[in-house]
Amino acid sequence: MFITLEGIEGSGKTSQIRHIRAFFEDLGRRCTVTREPGGTGIGEQIRAVLLDPESRDLSPGAELLLYTADRVQHAAEVIRPALTMGHVVICDRYFDATLAYQGYARGLDMALIRALHRLMLDDLTPDLTLLLDLSPDQGLARAWHQIDNGTRAGDETRFEREALKFHEKVRAGYLDLAKQAPHRYRIIDAARSEDDVRQAVRDILSAHPGLGSSDP
Ligand code: TMP
Repeated sequence: MFITLEGIEGSGKTSQIRHIRAFFEDLGRRCTVTREPGGTGIGEQIRAVLLDPESRDLSPGAELLLYTADRVQHAAEVIRPALTMGHVVICDRYFDATLAYQGYARGLDMALIRALHRLMLDDLTPDLTLLLDLSPDQGLARAWHQIDNGTRAGDETRFEREALKFHEKVRAGYLDLAKQAPHRYRIIDAARSEDDVRQAVRDILSAHPGLGSSDP
């Protein structure tokens, strides 16, 4: 089972991933928890370039290709092998982030982004995508609070530095994607407390048909 978490900065994905892993491990399922960009040694190097606030001159096209390169490596080295072993793969961001950030927010051609995914990733698609939805002003306030208190990396703030308008486009993009794929997406109100969000996520996971399938 392949689960992805999506949302704007500060939507609380990292905390919820810990709870999701605990949920599945309590059921005796083996989990692979991973993230994009990153998730592999090569991907961590790509991540450093992508998130470094000094990478100001990165062109939107180069940005798209670096996220795609990271994903190709990640799918080959981590995601596909883990799925083959019957693990629950829990991934902090995936292809929908490219549609939301590089497509809706940067304005790159959606058909091109989707074609790259088809050609380079054989359209590998999650079984379930949890969208932690939050207003950008709340999300960015949380994210900057974490950067200031050292719980979020200060050298990975290229996107946090984007204007509020950019994050509004990302949020609207995610909501649109969720509308287009209601069978795969679940929208969770992430303005609530961590515990309330955790409970909402548990309810979704408990009701999901994929939960019944056991490891091969
Ligand atoms: P995060 O690990 O804190 O979520 O940071 C990853 C950043 O990269 C986040 O700002 C969203 C951005 N991103 C994209 O723009 N496109 C993508 O395809 C992915 C996976 C992330």
